[in-house]
Amino acid sequence: MNVLVIGSGGREHAVCYALSKSKRVNKLFCVPGNAGISEIATCKSMSVFDFDGIYEYVKEHNIDLVFVTPDDPLAKGMVDFLSERGVRAFGPKANAAKLESSKAFSKEFMVRHNIPTAASKIYNSAEAALDFLSSAQFPIVIKADGLALGKGVLICADLDEAKAAIGELMVNKAFGEAGNRVLIEEFLVGREVTVMAFCDGKHIKVMPSSQDHKRAFDGDKGLNTGGMGAFAPSPYFTDSHKVEFMDKIALPTVKGLIEDGIEFKGVIYFGLMMTKDGLKVIEYNARLGDPETEAVLPLLKTDLMDIVEACIDGNLDKLDIEWQDKVGFTVVIASGGYPSNVIKGYEISIEKLDNVILFHAGTAIKDGKLVTSGGRVFELSGVADDMESARGLVYGQIDKISFKDSRYRTDIGRV
Ligand code: AMP
Ligand code: GLY
Repeated sequence: MNVLVIGSGGREHAVCYALSKSKRVNKLFCVPGNAGISEIATCKSMSVFDFDGIYEYVKEHNIDLVFVTPDDPLAKGMVDFLSERGVRAFGPKANAAKLESSKAFSKEFMVRHNIPTAASKIYNSAEAALDFLSSAQFPIVIKADGLALGKGVLICADLDEAKAAIGELMVNKAFGEAGNRVLIEEFLVGREVTVMAFCDGKHIKVMPSSQDHKRAFDGDKGLNTGGMGAFAPSPYFTDSHKVEFMDKIALPTVKGLIEDGIEFKGVIYFGLMMTKDGLKVIEYNARLGDPETEAVLPLLKTDLMDIVEACIDGNLDKLDIEWQDKVGFTVVIASGGYPSNVIKGYEISIEKLDNVILFHAGTAIKDGKLVTSGGRVFELSGVADDMESARGLVYGQIDKISFKDSRYRTDIGRV
């Protein structure tokens, strides 16, 4: 089969890496891809929103299947668009991707189907939100309804911060339309864990749990980022959590989707908080997480293409998905100013690496040289028998990759 992957980050490199090992994949393509992906796939520079252009590319290269990885094209209906034209595509259609693209929709879904989540109210105007906040308990969480590049969630310690947050989201429209509605919700306390699962619309198969580190600096300090590193499985997510997760969250989610007439085919990402009152859903994403994927997918033993097709064909229940009983570990190597001021275009040097996988995120080739082209530049991943060995493997080699002002967290897996 000829397969096209949509996207350009480390997560997409990990997907291409897994697909490149599939016996069933003949030619691999990626739009737009990056310098690392171009070593294993044919990359084509094109906007991921140019649906017509992508459809032309699919026909021109006899592409049999498109794996749509990022949230935005999913929310904008790329899978609907391709399916309507007879192209097999992996990922949820827009009505199902709404589980991620509208936090109001997903909150109403969870409440309707009794899925544990933070208590929350939806506000359509700044006046109504401010009125509620004047007598609220703090800290409190304010969230833009729509997609906001992962920056639309503000944790407010007091009324002043909350007023400022409403001003940013609803009045200044820092994230445009995404802030037309906001959710104001209860602040949950606990450890976060990510569980991603494949879903074929009727059945769900859970991947190893994982944990992301979102803050920019060691000790969970600094601004929120797209993620600075991850490990899988999470040692904090015990067997009893797994049972609780299946019974109270995963299965009710699939059942709820079916009851609501929504067919979800693709990956459901459950962002969970382990609270003293049990597991609660912080958010759903309608796709693979980044950088969790770079820690989780290297553990996959089953051919990813078999899973993708089982999801599309609705027979995931017939497939036994196998994972290595090991630890996957990944550390993000970022540009100096990330996530605020990113200077790009620095030349990169890489010494020989052993037994690790270097996923590229923000890299490009300029004048024949490998250069930085984004905030997150690489994810260096390793697999080993236990967490300490996996940490040692990755951190032992991370300094073999260098470019001006490069930076990484030194405490992934320790907090
Ligand atoms: P989200 O975009 O919904 O994943 O939120 C981003 C981050 O904000 C989460 O990973 C949590 O760390 C934090 N967060 C979101 N909602 C809550 C909540 N209700 N209570 C505490 N922290 C939250
Ligand atoms: N790592 C968080 C996300 O992918 O949304």
